[in-house]
Amino acid sequence: MVQFLTMAKTALGKKQTPLIIGNWKMNPQSGTEAQNLFAEIHKGLGSKNVIAEIVIAPPTLFIVELTKKSKKSRIQLGAQDCSFQLQGAHTGETSLMMLKSVGVSHVIVGHSERRIAGETNEVVRKKTEAVLQAGLTAVVCIGETIRDAHGDYFNVVQEQLQSACSSIKKVQLSRVVFAYEPVWAIGTNKHATAEDVQEMKLFIQKCIVDLFGRSVVSKVRILYGGSVNSDNALPLLLDGKADGFLIGGSSLKPVEFTQIIKISDTYATS
Ligand code: PGA
Repeated sequence: MVQFLTMAKTALGKKQTPLIIGNWKMNPQSGTEAQNLFAEIHKGLGSKNVIAEIVIAPPTLFIVELTKKSKKSRIQLGAQDCSFQLQGAHTGETSLMMLKSVGVSHVIVGHSERRIAGETNEVVRKKTEAVLQAGLTAVVCIGETIRDAHGDYFNVVQEQLQSACSSIKKVQLSRVVFAYEPVWAIGTNKHATAEDVQEMKLFIQKCIVDLFGRSVVSKVRILYGGSVNSDNALPLLLDGKADGFLIGGSSLKPVEFTQIIKISDTYATS
């Protein structure tokens, strides 16, 4: 344990380029509004070099509307979900090749809102595998629904992580991002504390070491998501040691979202 904690502290201490992902969920309601929102965020970033990696995951229908704009900006495109099937008779689904063809680089899998809609650990595992096989980056969401007094939430996170990892090859880990998103913190204005986030990051790193060994743990970014805003972003980076954020509500507010990106840049250069 002592050895693990020493190792984990080293891994924690290593600063990564922050990754900031905006998850627009089922917003906004028209392609024009999506274009305007994207343009405002782009404008808000200004002409100064941004250090953080920025990804916006709009509703699938609007991704193609933003492909051109994304190419001209530093903002990459993400998808909120995907099918694990390659092609064929799967009504309503979107394949990874389709997403890739319109410029998507990151795919969120296992978001709690999809898990609530019935997505199992096994489906999340298949989607993670498919995203990596397609050559894209998988943003795997894990997180407990409630925090019990006995620490059972660690088991929930471990089970989700182990299941998703069971078809990840060690060489693919640099294209895997874990987003720790406690369900109780999503859209509630009740974010996890910096201590909670740091503790969970250590725990996730320990699980990764157990599965893949020590050499790769520093390659995997561990984001935090759940009621992130411009007030809590700095402590969550500085003390929580989050490698970035998965942001819902605040990503729909251009001033707030760009402020979080600027805070992440300040942190990255400090
Ligand atoms: P929130 O959502 O920032 O609105 O809490 C986060 C998420 O669902 O990814």
